[in-house]
Amino acid sequence: MIPPAQRMQLLGPTFFAALEPKISAMQAAGKDVIRLDEGSPDLPPPRAIIETLAQAAAEPGTHCYQPHRGTRALRLAWAGMYRRVFGVSLNTDSEIVPLLGSKEGVFHLSAAFLNPGDVSLIPDPGYMTYTRGALFCGAEPYFMPLRPENQFLPDLDAIPASVLRRARLLWLNYPNNPTAAVASHEFFARAVAFAQKQGLLLCHDAPYTQITFDNYRAPSLLEIDGAKEVAVEFNSLSKSHNMAGWRVGALMGNAQALKTFFTLKTNVDSSHFLPILAAAAAAMTGDQAWLAERNQVYRQRRDIVVQAVNEFGLPAQLPQASIYVWCPVPAGWTCLDFVNLILNETLVSLTPGTIFGDNGEGYVRISLTAPAERLNEAMLRMAKLFPLTTKGGK
Ligand SMILES: Cc1ncc(COP(=O)(O)O)c(C=O)c1O
Repeated sequence: MIPPAQRMQLLGPTFFAALEPKISAMQAAGKDVIRLDEGSPDLPPPRAIIETLAQAAAEPGTHCYQPHRGTRALRLAWAGMYRRVFGVSLNTDSEIVPLLGSKEGVFHLSAAFLNPGDVSLIPDPGYMTYTRGALFCGAEPYFMPLRPENQFLPDLDAIPASVLRRARLLWLNYPNNPTAAVASHEFFARAVAFAQKQGLLLCHDAPYTQITFDNYRAPSLLEIDGAKEVAVEFNSLSKSHNMAGWRVGALMGNAQALKTFFTLKTNVDSSHFLPILAAAAAAMTGDQAWLAERNQVYRQRRDIVVQAVNEFGLPAQLPQASIYVWCPVPAGWTCLDFVNLILNETLVSLTPGTIFGDNGEGYVRISLTAPAERLNEAMLRMAKLFPLTTKGGK
């Protein structure tokens, strides 16, 4: 076999791809593993969305290629949702590009804008595709630490001038994965001004904006005056509408950036299956009342987890949004040792913070993607290990 291209060495497997066989082997041996590691919603979307897909699939004319920009109905649905939820107006021809899930868009945006030697400013901890996309292009990630004392917001003024001179992209993600932190309008306004001053493309990744609790409303970065001059925003139905496997996302905002991105994308894929486009549009234009009920389910799950881990002596904060709890590990433990202990001793699978970057050390991410009974069961199993003696693994 011929050797892989050198750039493949920059990628390596993802944590979840490596975890999968281990969990499968445990399950094959009859072990009841509770998976709180991945951020994959366990609840289905409403029947009406699925029926739209089924009906469209039964039509004879639905099997051909679709326009690269998706259907106009889909773009109108994205624009309608942005107007309704955020008060943001978008031009459906120039300010919206549908994606096959936001992950491919995040990766390809780096390919569209980064030259070898350029810098991409990336939150740490952060969603790993920002980094992998930069590395694949021969660009350099510069990690902006997200620290609890800064409410897990990056300190933009701490980025050295020598780094800024080579930087082209600035990534943000709120509500945040993995920390579940949220950002204010005021912070977004500062980020827009910073991107304007430094000549950066500001990339906001916003798949969790519609999973919020206790009357909190997560803003879109595009709500900020002047944002469209320097920013693009990714959104996705994966989490917002329980449709992770459907692979429906969109990139919105600065028309010039979208034009460049679109040129790359038309060379890579050929849009979606029409029934998926139709059902995705229906998901955004149909009844949205179920989202509030679904958020109540996540809120109840959040309360189970936060209360339990607080009782273990782990001071996790109560998140206002997202599907995660960012939980400190016991003193003296590395997150990886802690995750391995919990998996081996209790069959509960958590995500170590360091897969999101060095600043994830000291934390595990707990996903709220299991029913309340399973979360209760997971917490009961874990409770038996506490108090933990110091492992000295750090
Ligand atoms: C911050 C963030 N961005 C992007 C994605 C990718 O989502 P999608 O399913 O739309 O590709 C995820 C998925 O977990 C995420 O957490």
